[in-house]
Amino acid sequence: MSQKSYRVIQWATGTVGKVSLRHFIENPAFELVGVLVTNPEKVGKDAGELVDLPPTGVLATNDVEAIIALDADCVLFAPMLQDIDMVCRLLSSGKNVVSTIGPFFTTDFSKAEVEQLEAAAQEGGVSFHGCGIHPGFIGDIMPMTLTRLMDRIDRIQVFEIANKLVSPSVYIEFMGFGLTPEELSARPNCMEYAMPTFGESMAMVLAGLGKQVENLTEKHEIALARNDIAYPGGVIRAGTVAGQHWEWTMWTEGKPLLLYHLYYVMGEDMEPNWGLGATSRHRIVFEGNPEFEMTLTASPDAEGKHPFLGIIWTALLGATAIPQVCDAKPGVLTHFDLGVVRPQGLIR
Ligand SMILES: NC(=O)c1ccc[n+]([C@@H]2O[C@H](COP(=O)([O-])OP(=O)(O)OC[C@H]3O[C@@H](n4cnc5c(N)ncnc54)[C@H](OP(=O)(O)O)[C@@H]3O)[C@@H](O)[C@H]2O)c1
Repeated sequence: MSQKSYRVIQWATGTVGKVSLRHFIENPAFELVGVLVTNPEKVGKDAGELVDLPPTGVLATNDVEAIIALDADCVLFAPMLQDIDMVCRLLSSGKNVVSTIGPFFTTDFSKAEVEQLEAAAQEGGVSFHGCGIHPGFIGDIMPMTLTRLMDRIDRIQVFEIANKLVSPSVYIEFMGFGLTPEELSARPNCMEYAMPTFGESMAMVLAGLGKQVENLTEKHEIALARNDIAYPGGVIRAGTVAGQHWEWTMWTEGKPLLLYHLYYVMGEDMEPNWGLGATSRHRIVFEGNPEFEMTLTASPDAEGKHPFLGIIWTALLGATAIPQVCDAKPGVLTHFDLGVVRPQGLIR
């Protein structure tokens, strides 16, 4: 792999985009050449100012055509909403794209999008890679890698436990925390597309293990606040939703082989109390022979709390993949195509 500086564009500067933008400014393996924003208050601001760094000379713009016209190696695409047509325009214009929204792997759900991306990538002679912590890492490449430590697999369970009281985020409102159970069930399911999207990661693991996807099933349970819970964005009132557990199960050969558990909680003062403790973490439990588990968590902060690093890791998983995505043959790239990713510029 070459040691050149990769010319990059940061597309959107939300919680994920700000982390990658800062990384691009600070990592000598990258040269920041453009920043696309939607927020009018950010337009015209220097990229450095958006992330509390010295000026870079690159100004944020909301002019999509100006971004398309830029000469760049790669776009880190991290807006709030998926826009496959826009990603295809970027690819056809000759820019590689790394996207935190996926798609991550070809399934019945993603097939049409993957085909569209593949055609645009071939037209532009570039590559596309869908990335993120989950989906994109902790439920696919990580267990896939660790299955090499096994003699026989009976079941794999992947847990994402996010204590939103320690690490508040936009997802608190998005997921309906603070609503009564009736209000939550009357609203459209905010995770409607989550199961098939996480299902792409699950399908990747099954494909890697040489098995067919038979079925994907879902369970959802909620926990209610025992007392009012204050957080920086407001208050979760007693009796309203303070915790949610999503469980998705991938079946093969009549057995539940792979389970994903998403526990999003506003602290611990809720009923039922799932006994998760206060620490945000990712955990993978391997059942079979031998049995073992792996936990990934942030080191404690100044207050002794363990923040949720999922958002930061999503940005960094995108940024660290860029050199290899740029240097790869054109097309849609999964973890199977990328192999062992070799990050650049991290030792500095
Ligand atoms: N795979 C994973 O593990 C993973 C993990 C976390 C997030 N994600 C995905 O990554 C993306 C970014 O997440 P985030 O936490 O950074 O979200 P976020 O904080 O809500 O930021 C998204 C940014 O998108 C731009 N935006 C706002 N409204 C928009 C609209 N209507 N259409 C298009 N863009 C809009 C804004 O950019 P400006 O402020 O620059 O105008 C906003 O700051 C999301 O799609 C999320 O689902 C994936």
